[in-house]
Amino acid sequence: MNSVRNIVVLTGAGISAESGIATFRGPGGLWEGHRVEDVCTPEALAHDPALVHRFYDLRRAALATVEPNAAHHALARLDREWRGELLIVTQNVDDLHERAGTRRLLHMHGALQSALCAACGERRHWIDALPVGSRCDACGAAALRPDIVFFGEMPYRMERIETALAQADLFVSIGTSGAVYPAAGFVQLADACGADTLELNLERSTGSDSFAETRLGRAGELVPAWVEAVLGAA
Ligand code: OAD
Repeated sequence: MNSVRNIVVLTGAGISAESGIATFRGPGGLWEGHRVEDVCTPEALAHDPALVHRFYDLRRAALATVEPNAAHHALARLDREWRGELLIVTQNVDDLHERAGTRRLLHMHGALQSALCAACGERRHWIDALPVGSRCDACGAAALRPDIVFFGEMPYRMERIETALAQADLFVSIGTSGAVYPAAGFVQLADACGADTLELNLERSTGSDSFAETRLGRAGELVPAWVEAVLGAA
């Protein structure tokens, strides 16, 4: 642990599960009662924008009913106290990492509290419902959409993330099933570049064999214990 300086952490839906936000791949393969391709693709947005906007409006509104849990708070503590390089990459679109106080954070799949102009690419902080046809302040087009990376779209900040992974001494994956690329491939990239790799998850993920170590359990217990150990060894 003494030789660790650069850490990259990847989080997924499992880290927010104990806050009361449903994970994606639950029983029946449904996501809050919807097939994922009905609400999370560019085609869905084109064919039924009202359904897609309503789905994300409800999820945005639900943020007011949840709080960061011990795992989010532990990563925020790591961010405050870790003197080396740190990048926390989340696949989650909730704002629980920010509300816990994490700053060195990237939302690779977008954010519920952001609206994106499909015409000019401008972003706006957005906390209320987002009606279809909402106008962009920057270009005037009636083209604001949820700022969510849909299936088939390129996740955000990949260059920055890949650079951090290539320089990492330690890559830690928390609460993700390893079902969605490119995030599912981060462990191989980090490993190929010489990083140690650790998985913290309720159950073995799809790519579990690629990690040097896997610890199984709830994020609310595993993450604070891991952060305590990392900071203690620094
Ligand atoms: P998944 O729902 O696929 O996986 C969640 C993982 O968290 C599973 O492996 C669970 O076992 C684990 N888990 C559940 N509760 C936990 C707990 N209390 N502590 C620790 N682990 C727990 O969610 P993701 O892997 O995040 O993409 O899904 C990846 C992407 O698929 C999402 O970002 C989303 C979705 O389609 C987009 O929206 C673009």
